Amino acid sequence: GRAIGVFTSGGDSQGMNAAVRAVVRMGMTCGAKVFLIHEGYQGMVDGGENIKEAAWDSVSGILQLGGTVIGSARCKDFRQREGRLKAACNLVTHGITNICAIGGDGSLTGANLFREEWPSLLEELVQNDKITKEQQIKHSHLNIVGLVGSIDNDFCGTDMTIGADSALHRIVDCVDAISTTAVSHQRAFVLEVMGRHCGYLALVTGLACGADWIFIPEHPPGDDWEEKMCQRLNNARMWGNRLNVIIVSEGAIDCHGKPITSQQVKDAICRKLDIDTRITVLGHVQRGGSPSAFDRILGTRMGAEAVLALLEATPDTPAYVVSLDGNQAVRVPLMECVKKTQEVQKAMDNLDFDRAAKLRGRT
Ligand code: F6P
Repeated sequence: GRAIGVFTSGGDSQGMNAAVRAVVRMGMTCGAKVFLIHEGYQGMVDGGENIKEAAWDSVSGILQLGGTVIGSARCKDFRQREGRLKAACNLVTHGITNICAIGGDGSLTGANLFREEWPSLLEELVQNDKITKEQQIKHSHLNIVGLVGSIDNDFCGTDMTIGADSALHRIVDCVDAISTTAVSHQRAFVLEVMGRHCGYLALVTGLACGADWIFIPEHPPGDDWEEKMCQRLNNARMWGNRLNVIIVSEGAIDCHGKPITSQQVKDAICRKLDIDTRITVLGHVQRGGSPSAFDRILGTRMGAEAVLALLEATPDTPAYVVSLDGNQAVRVPLMECVKKTQEVQKAMDNLDFDRAAKLRGRT
């Protein structure tokens, strides 16, 4: 049978454990050996205790846990060929030629480069007497399937990334909690949420909580945003509201591409309106806590599909990402998604937001 290695990489997200569990159990059910690679690419480079064959109960009791129990890392060594040589050697030693990478777009791009480089890495390992010619022939091809784990929902090609829904639940809970104290004191709250360059979390939170104003990178306001926002906040007060909620995405920018910070937003309110204003930066609380039912199921479905894709892979099939399209778990060529995601970033850098929105499509 085939041997599958599964690892989580980059920032953790709720639901990654569900995906790891599904890969292990679906893999075993299909007769494959599954190895847990701990600490992301770092564990692949360091080998030893980091790479362990999983048993059925290695993944018991993790479905309901946030984070990733097999650890994650942002790894510098893997960016060097030296590190990738070590990683390849460790994989071949364990007989692993199938990889399920669970992470964000950087981690998945890294996986694809590794796959393209694989033959030349093995050639060098043979020359350095690290592996035998027989091992090289037996492990000549590396299959990769990626699952997108990120709270940001910033990956082109999937409707939802694993963790975004749980982060939303957490953020909405926080906004609801803050609202009760805000109402009591008739305050305005500027709430900063994560998302890197993607405004999804901020936008959807704003809609779900009935925020007064939202700042997201995809829709920068004009130069008169201070007046417009304050006018709207003032109106809300005149309509009888005892609070204002303003959601700021951490990547928010103005129409010149300059960051808009929570402090700037607060200062504008204080300057123009007589409203007591506070800032709350939600931070990593958004990435913590147990995964929502949606993310548990999403991780499980994607993990199972990843195993099927790996077991059916041939040297001619591309590296895939398992993505959610409508309500279907489907396989999309990894490079297509990575290229699109990079193009979106380029369009955003050029302040071409219509193009970015078009490229993103449904996500
Ligand atoms: O990509 C997930 C994310 O939580 C972003 O929303 C945020 O910008 C970043 O990671 C924070 O990174 P770190 O956990 O390394 O501080």
